[in-house]
This record gives sequence, structure tokens and C-alpha cells, in this order.
Amino acid sequence: MKILIIGGGGREHAIAWKASQSPKVEKLYCAPGNAGIAAVAECVNIPVMDFEAQVKFAKEKEIDLVVVAPDDPLAAGAVDAFEAAGIRAFGPRKNAAILEGSKAFSKDLMKKYGIPTAAYETFDTPETALAYLETAPVPIVLKADGLALGKGVLICKTREEAKEGVKTLMLDKQFGSAGDRIVVEQFMTGREVSVLSFVDGKTIKVMTSAQDHKRAKDGDQGLNTGGMGTFSPSPFYTAEIDAYCREHIYQPTVDAMRAEGREFKGVIFFGLMLTADGPKVLEYNARFGDPETQVVLPRMKNDIVDVFEACIDGTLDQIDLQFDDNAAVCVVLASDGYPEHYEKGFPISGLDAFNGKNGYYVFHAGSKFNADGEIVTNGGRVLGVTALGDTLKDARRNAYAAAERISFANKYMRHDIGRAIDEA
Ligand code: GLY
Repeated sequence: MKILIIGGGGREHAIAWKASQSPKVEKLYCAPGNAGIAAVAECVNIPVMDFEAQVKFAKEKEIDLVVVAPDDPLAAGAVDAFEAAGIRAFGPRKNAAILEGSKAFSKDLMKKYGIPTAAYETFDTPETALAYLETAPVPIVLKADGLALGKGVLICKTREEAKEGVKTLMLDKQFGSAGDRIVVEQFMTGREVSVLSFVDGKTIKVMTSAQDHKRAKDGDQGLNTGGMGTFSPSPFYTAEIDAYCREHIYQPTVDAMRAEGREFKGVIFFGLMLTADGPKVLEYNARFGDPETQVVLPRMKNDIVDVFEACIDGTLDQIDLQFDDNAAVCVVLASDGYPEHYEKGFPISGLDAFNGKNGYYVFHAGSKFNADGEIVTNGGRVLGVTALGDTLKDARRNAYAAAERISFANKYMRHDIGRAIDEA
């Protein structure tokens, strides 16, 4: 089979690496890819939102399957564009990707179908939002309705902060039209867990659990980022919690989307909060998580191409999804200054020691080849260094040892990825 993957970050590198293990794959392409993905796929310089060029390329190369990984093209209808051209594509269509594309939609869906989540109100004007905040309890959470690079969620400790947040989202439009409408949500406390799942419209197969570290600095301080590291599985996601979520959250979400005429095929990522009142949905994503994918896929036993095809064909019930009984930790190596200002273009050394064998993986998030053919930094998040281990502690030790062997100017990482492991 010839497969085209849309995207160019660490998540797409993990997907491309996993697909490259499949005996079914004769040729892999990635648009636009990056310098690390180039080791397993031919990278083609087509932007993720240029559906016309992607479809043209897929037709020319007689692509059998397209995997659309990032949120923006999914929400804008990339899968619909490929299907309209007669090309099989993995991922939700536009009318189902709204599960992530509109926070108001997903909250209304949960309310309508009794799926546990925080209480909320939706506002279309800053005046009504500000009036509500006069008496609403704090802390409180503000969410831009639309996609905002994962940064449209503001946790406000005081009423003043919340009012400032309304200004940021709805008046200053920090995230553009994503803030035309906002969801104001009750603040929940507990452990966060990420659970990814494959869905074929009616059947859902849940992957192993993971946990992300979103803040830039040790101790969960600093600004929100795309993710500074992950570990899998979460020791807090017990068999009892899993059983509860399957009954009250996972299958009900798939059934609700179907009942709404928005059959979901692809990956649903459940962002959960394990509260004192039981697990609740923090957010849905309509795609693989990043960097969660970088710890989940190295532990997956199945041929991922079989799973992609089963999701498209509606035969996921015939897949026995299995994960190794081990653990993985991913430490993100970033450019100092991320997520604000940082420099790029520095040569990366020490990559040769890693080839996916012996339980070590380096997934590239922001890298490229310079004019001399060297691999150089090309983003805020540069690499995800993943290591396996028999236990979470082994995996963490291995990941940090590996992270120390890679060098580039202005290299920055958190030193406490997986610290929750010690509290389990
Ligand atoms: N790691 C969170 C996300 O992918 O949105």
C-alpha cells in the first residue's frame, strides 16, 4: 500500500514510524513532514491546509490511504476532500471533527447525553459573559469555542483574572474567531489522564492511558505549551476507572455522535479529570494527542494499518487491540524560550545512537535539513525522546539518560517529567 500522512510534528513522526513497521506498506509519504520523518517516509512540501494540492498529489501517486493527523485540517474538512476524490482517508469528517472544533458543541453533546463533565455556560457576547462572572464562583475556566493551538483555555483564580480573560478571548481576539464564543466552566480538581481510542462509527477500542505535562517549567510552572513530555500508562487510571469510563463516557460519546448524524471515525482523545465525584470529561480531541502518541504507539502491538482500515471499513469489532505490558516516558527537548521567543537553525548532534531499536525513539517535532544537509532545530519543540522500560521508573531513567546524549544550542527540557509516578 501507498500511504500519505498529513502533518509534520512529533505525533506524525510516531505515526509514520509505526506505519513503517507494517508489512503492508510499500511506500510512505508525509506532507510536509520534517527531517526525522524523512528517515521513514518521503517528505513532500505541501502545507497541511492545502487540500487541493494534497488531493492532486494523492491522485498522481495513486495513494491507497491518507492519514490526516492535525486538528486544523480535520476541522476544515480534509477527510471530506479526499473522500470526494475517491481516496480512502483515516480521520473524522468535518461534521464529526466538530467534537474538538467547537467546545460549545461538545459541552452541549455531553449535557444532552448525560456524559459526566463540568457544569458550564456558553456566551456569544463579552457583556453577557462579564455579567455572569459578577456572581460566578472562582476559580473558573474560560475556553475559546474554536481551535486555538491548544492554548485557548484560561484557568482563572480570581474574578478579576476571569474578566481579563474575557477581554483576551472576546475583545482582544488573541485566538482570532476561535474566541467569538466562549464556554465558561466550573473548575475541576483531580488527576488528569489522556485516553486515546480508535473509533469506526459504532465500535470504540481504547488504547493504553497516558499523561501529558503541559506547562513549560518544572513543578507545572510557566506558560502552557503543546506538551513538554508524557508517560504511559497512568498509574492512577485503574481497572475500575476504566470500566466506569467505558460505560459512562467512551461508548456513550460514540453513540451520541451517531445519534446526532455525525458518525465519528478516527481517533477520539478523551481528556479526563479523575475528580472526587468520579471521572469527568475535560475536553475531547478528534485526533491523536501530541506528545501522548509518542508514548502510546511504541507500546502498541497491532499493525496500525490494519486498525486504520478497520476504522474506515466499520470492522473495528474484529480487531483485538493490544499493548505491551511495559511503560514509556517521552521527554521533549525544546528551544530555550519556548513557547514564546526562541531561535532556530542550530545543528543537532547525538541522533545516530537512536534508531527505534532497543526501546529508544527520537521523534522529531521541529527539525529540518539545512543547506549543508545537516539536521537543525526548526521549532519550539524540537524532539521527543521516548524510552521504554519494564516499569515507569525504568522508562523515566532511560528517557532522561537518552535525552542527555542529544545536544543542540539552547536545548531546554523539563527535569520532572513523570514526577507523578512517585506519588502513585
Ligand atoms: N497533548 C495534548 C494535545 O495533544 O492536545
